[in-house]
Amino acid sequence: MTLDTSSLNKSRHDFSGRDSVWLFGYGSLIFKADFPYLERRPASIRGWARRFWQGSHDHRGTPEAPGRVLTLIESPGAVCAGMAYRVAPAVFDHLDVREKNGYLRFSTPMAFTDGGHEEGLVYIATEDNAAFLGGAPDADIAAQIAASHGPSGANRDYLLELAAALRELGAEDEHVFGLEAYLLRL
Ligand code: SIN
Repeated sequence: MTLDTSSLNKSRHDFSGRDSVWLFGYGSLIFKADFPYLERRPASIRGWARRFWQGSHDHRGTPEAPGRVLTLIESPGAVCAGMAYRVAPAVFDHLDVREKNGYLRFSTPMAFTDGGHEEGLVYIATEDNAAFLGGAPDADIAAQIAASHGPSGANRDYLLELAAALRELGAEDEHVFGLEAYLLRL
């Protein structure tokens, strides 16, 4: 699949007649909401696990030295906590560009932490995208994150800000907190 998914995403959902759409964020969309939203509610989705398995050429790394950012990997029984935003459909013009490095929008059921359910859209970088890096030992992932920088800043800040945001949500995440511990020891 092409590296730039922004035009692919435009044709994936029909927003006509919609005033607002729910978005589920599990990574930088939790701690960096650089878009207008109508509502913001802690939520979770089932069957997916957060993993630092996606390369970042445009935000937290460069094409020559990609950083590592999150994607979701199918994982039966897992619960991924994050943040749901209700946004105007036009906000996806911005989000599709922000998430263009391999992410596609998918529809998902979301459970709000304070009760209730809605259908939302989530950006997932699937294994067939050109920037997918896949798994590696935690020590190697942490070392790559420690060394990477891109136009959006240091890759380490992505991990540290995410870990802080997950703590604030009261979310457990062994993968993220394990990598944070490695990073802080480096
Ligand atoms: C997300 O935050 O939901 C997508 C991945 C990212 O931009 O970090």
